[in-house]
Amino acid sequence: MCGIVGYVGNRECADILVDGLKRLEYRGYDSAGIAVFQNGKIKVAKSKGKLVDLEQKMESGEKPHGICGIGHTRWATHGEPSDINSHPHGNKRVTIVHNGIIENYKQIKDFLIAQGYGFESETDTETVAKLLDYYYDGNPIETISKMIDKVNGSYALGILFRDYPDTIYAVRKESPLIIGLGENENFIASDVTPILKHTRKYYLLEHDEIAIINQTGVKVCTTEGEEIEKEEHIADWDIDAAEKGGYEHFMLKEINEQPTAIRTTISPRIQNDLPYLEESGLTFEMLKNYKRLFVVACGTAMHAGLVGKYVIEKLARVEVIVDIASEFRYRNPIISEDDLVILVSQSGETADTIAALKLAKERGATTLAIVNVKGSTIAREADLVIYTHAGPEISVASTKAYSVQLSIMYLLAFELAYAKGAITEERCKELTKQLIDIPEKLSEVLVLKERCQFIASRLVNSESLLYIGRGLDYALSMEGSLKLKEISYIHSESYAAGELKHGTISLVTEDMPVVAVATQSDLLEKTISNVKEVKARGAKVSIICPEDVEIGKDVANHLIKLPKMEDILMPMLAAVPMQYIAYYTAVLKGCDVDQPRNLAKSVTVE
Ligand code: F6R
Repeated sequence: MCGIVGYVGNRECADILVDGLKRLEYRGYDSAGIAVFQNGKIKVAKSKGKLVDLEQKMESGEKPHGICGIGHTRWATHGEPSDINSHPHGNKRVTIVHNGIIENYKQIKDFLIAQGYGFESETDTETVAKLLDYYYDGNPIETISKMIDKVNGSYALGILFRDYPDTIYAVRKESPLIIGLGENENFIASDVTPILKHTRKYYLLEHDEIAIINQTGVKVCTTEGEEIEKEEHIADWDIDAAEKGGYEHFMLKEINEQPTAIRTTISPRIQNDLPYLEESGLTFEMLKNYKRLFVVACGTAMHAGLVGKYVIEKLARVEVIVDIASEFRYRNPIISEDDLVILVSQSGETADTIAALKLAKERGATTLAIVNVKGSTIAREADLVIYTHAGPEISVASTKAYSVQLSIMYLLAFELAYAKGAITEERCKELTKQLIDIPEKLSEVLVLKERCQFIASRLVNSESLLYIGRGLDYALSMEGSLKLKEISYIHSESYAAGELKHGTISLVTEDMPVVAVATQSDLLEKTISNVKEVKARGAKVSIICPEDVEIGKDVANHLIKLPKMEDILMPMLAAVPMQYIAYYTAVLKGCDVDQPRNLAKSVTVE
C-alpha cells in the first residue's frame, strides 16, 4: 500500500516520477505527489485523487523542474485523502515520501510539539519528516540512524535533505524498497515495475540499511555508516507485461494471460513427466514426513489455499488447515515441527501473511512461500520458496495470480500424494499430464466471454447475489463472489449449497440471482437439488458446469459449459467464467475495474 519512487540523473525528473507512479498506482490512489530539487530548493506538487489530478495541477504551472526528486501514490491510513495529507511531507530542510505505518507517531508528535514543531496534516508520515528535521545536524546518515532508533512500525522512505540537492536517501523496515541502477541515473521504487523502462539492474534494500543515491552511484551502509556490499539483481519481468497492450483494462489482459502464466509456472517444475519442486528446497523425502499442512494467506490467495486443501486431502490424505492470515496470527495456532506451513501471496508483502510466517517459524514449522514477486519479504523470509511466474499483476483484483497459485497447489498435491504412497507413479504422471493440458483447455474457456458478458448484463442491476457450490465448487464460489463484489460493488455471498436451507435461503427471492458452480460429478445431483430449491423461490440461476452435463431450462436460466476434464482439475477452468462475469458486470456498471474504491494491491498494513 502506497507506492514510492525516486529519480536522480541527468534528465528532467517530474515526468519520470509520474510515469513511475503510474506503474505503482495499483498500490493506492487516494492522492499523489512529487518533490523535486529546483534551484537548490525542494519544490513540492501534490494533489488529492489519482495521478491524473496531479498531472492536471502540474500542467497549470505547478510542475517542479529538476533532475533529482521523489514521488508518492497514497492509500490513506492516517488522515482522509486530501491535498494536505498527500505526500511528500516535511519542510524546507527535509522532505520525505513514506510507505508503511508509524505505530508510535502520536508519542513522537507530542514530543515534537513540545519542542515547538507545528503540524499541518493528520498523517503519521509528517511526524517522521519533522523528527528527521529535529535530529538533523548536517549529517544525513546520523540523522536517519537516530530516527530509526526512535520510530516503531514499518517504513520505506525516500528522503531529500536541502543541503544535498543531488542526492536521495532511502531506508526501509518491513515495507519494500528497491534501488534501480541505471547509466548515469539511479532510482528508488516500491517494486521493479517503475524502473523496467530505464534499467533491469537493481539492489534489494534490507531492513535498516541506508542508501545514498546520486547520479553517479549508489552507496548502501549500516546505521553506523559502514559500507555494505550489495548483490546486483536483474529483473526478469518484461516491460510490456506492465502495459495494457491494447486491452481496455489490466484485468481483462490478465484474465487472458492465464494460459501463458500457468505454462510458464508449471513447465520448469515438471521433470520426467512428474512434478519436481526440489529447486525450492522441498525434497521428496521432506514431503514424505510432514504430518500436516497449513495454508495461510489472505483474500484470493487464501481461496487458492482452499482449493489446495480439497485437492491435497483427496489425493494425499494429509490433513490441510487453511487459515486467514489475520486470524491465524492471533489465534495461537497449534503448530509443530512436523508441519509444513505454506504462505501464499502474490505480492509477498502482505502484512498479516508476513506475521503468520514469522509465527510459524517461531513455532518450529518448515515454511514454504508460494509468491509471485521476486525478492519480496515473504519470499526472502520463508525457509523454502516456489515462485509463481505470472509476471506483474497490475489490476487490483487478482486473476492470473490466483490461477498460478492453483497450479502450484496441484503440483504440490500430486507430488505429496506420490511421496506418501497414496497414488502410484503412473497416476501421478497422468495427473501431471492433465495439468500440462490446462493452458490449452483454458484457451477454449477464454472464448466464452460473450456468454459471460450476457450473464453479466442480467446481474448488473441486482443488489445482492449468491454463489453456491459443494466441495471444490464451494471453494471456487468464494473466489467468484469476492471478485464480483470487489469490483462491481454488488453485494455477494458464497455459500455451501447444502447449507442454504439452514437460514440463508430466506433471503432468496426473484431479486436475488444465484450463480451455481457444479463441476464435481459426485456432487452434481446434490447441487442440482439445491439449485432447484432456490429456483422454486424465484431466483434466476446461472450454472457453470462441464459440457457433458445435461441441465434443463427448468433448472437453469443460463448455462456456461466448460471443456470436460477430470473433476479434480475443473477449478482451473471454472475460475475464468467467474472472473469474466465479475469483470463485465463492473464494466457495465461503469466501475473503475482496475482500481476499485477503497482498495489497494499489496496490503502492507494490518
Ligand atoms: C482480491 C485480491 C486480494 C489479495 C489479498 C492478498 O482480488 O487480490 O484479496 O489476494 O490482498 O494479497 P497477496 O496475494 O499479495 O498476499
